[in-house]
Amino acid sequence: MRNCITILLLPILLPFFFFFFFSGAVDVDDVRFDFPAKKLIRDLNLFPPKDFNFLPHADFHAHEIVEKPLRFPNLLHSESGVSIDDLGHRAGYYPIRHSHAARMFYFFFESRSSKRDPVVIWLTGGPGCSSELAVFYENGPFKIADNMSLVWNDYGWDKISNLLYVDQPTGTGFSYSTDKRDIRHDEEGVSNDLYDFLQAFFAGHPEYAENDFYITGESYAGHYIPAFAARIHRGNKDKEGIHINLKGFAIGNGLTDPGIQYKAYTDYALDVGIIQQDDYDKLNQVMVPACELAIKLCGTGGKIACTASYFVCNTIFNSIMSHAGDINYYDIRKKCEGSLCYDFSNMEKFLNQESVRDALGVRDIAFVSCSSTVYQAMLVDWMRNLEVGIPALLEDGIKLLVYAGEYDLICNWLGNSKWVHAMEWSGQKEFVASSEVPFTVDDTEAGVLKSYGPLSFLKVHDAGHMVPMDQPKASLEMLKRWIQGTLSQTAGDAEKLVAEM
Ligand SMILES: *[C@@H]1O[C@H](CO)[C@@H](O)[C@H](O)[C@H]1NC(C)=O
Repeated sequence: MRNCITILLLPILLPFFFFFFFSGAVDVDDVRFDFPAKKLIRDLNLFPPKDFNFLPHADFHAHEIVEKPLRFPNLLHSESGVSIDDLGHRAGYYPIRHSHAARMFYFFFESRSSKRDPVVIWLTGGPGCSSELAVFYENGPFKIADNMSLVWNDYGWDKISNLLYVDQPTGTGFSYSTDKRDIRHDEEGVSNDLYDFLQAFFAGHPEYAENDFYITGESYAGHYIPAFAARIHRGNKDKEGIHINLKGFAIGNGLTDPGIQYKAYTDYALDVGIIQQDDYDKLNQVMVPACELAIKLCGTGGKIACTASYFVCNTIFNSIMSHAGDINYYDIRKKCEGSLCYDFSNMEKFLNQESVRDALGVRDIAFVSCSSTVYQAMLVDWMRNLEVGIPALLEDGIKLLVYAGEYDLICNWLGNSKWVHAMEWSGQKEFVASSEVPFTVDDTEAGVLKSYGPLSFLKVHDAGHMVPMDQPKASLEMLKRWIQGTLSQTAGDAEKLVAEM
């Protein structure tokens, strides 16, 4: 179940967290998967042999990025003749400044169009899942063919941006530490590491430092992204380091305001018919109010109360799943095939080839697609409300796009739409009152958009949790128009504009 790209580890692991929690092993650092849980997880192929990367020793002198030009051995030439030699593709490590011994792995793919294109960073969720899932299955420059060749992705986001992917928090993907104290437990730790990385990246690449900058990501990144955006904004205001030209942040099928989003599970499930009215009534009588109360106690910075609310609230999700049967909770149209809802095995096969590891410079560091250690360490963070920092960013003109594939259950569009509408800021009234317009790609309605000022909400048709995987063309178009500021222009507007010229 490497499909655990995102928020995903949740339903299967939950019983085991219960077990550990109530058996007194509350210290998340020391929770280990032993006996049944471990076996089950291995059977499900959920985790690679190593769950977290610890190396015996590493040198730390400067907190500078160390990177190498990236040339994958098995990349097929594209028809359009893009030559990899002309592109600045890089893989590297950043020794994290405010850590004991942590190194953050990243990919950088120069834009296929222009170095002046914005720099866009992508964050995969989990917490604890590698951004390589997005590189190879969503919006990266290429896809992995069954014969392990790489084929160019016609809708890679590097077509219009200089694209960064990082493995974070520490312990995820190819990122590692030699010191357990580097495991992060909250958004403060996560956003400081990301900010330090960005500073080092632009110090190493001053030629990109003045470009526009955008943050994007998915799922649990609904927590990371607002925290990271606020961290950059603060750094800019305090003149802490290199000024980062933050223009906007985009959250895809994210978890941002759990108080509203957990309450929306039953509404969404009833709407799409995976539970019946009497299931709905029962859940809303007991579990939903209990969850609401638990989340209130957690607030924005609670500790034990937050961990407790995770367990209380996820009974709602589990109960819905027990009615829904074997559906894929990232895409309710699909069945969860066997123990894997999606099959991402090609990625691990690909990344474990020696030639690929040489190209990446990762030597014998294990690739951890989804780390349970990182996941558990972040449990206390899960139910915290990350919406609270967003209004201040909007007031300063930083754009936010919240988009959601309509068939995802776990971070469904309804819960996202509800928190976006409920958010208090100076343009709230106008946003709520504005009408929905079709988001049209190739003369087809690819989604429904609502926007006012810096805030946009897009419900994407025909897509589940991973929008760039399910709707690659529409998602590239979405990014392009959002960056250009033309997202809310309808086809009619464009014609009018042409007619007036
Ligand atoms: C591998 O698969 C790709 C895409 O299907 C194909 O273009 C390529 O020719 C294949 N390579 C080999 C060696 O079979």
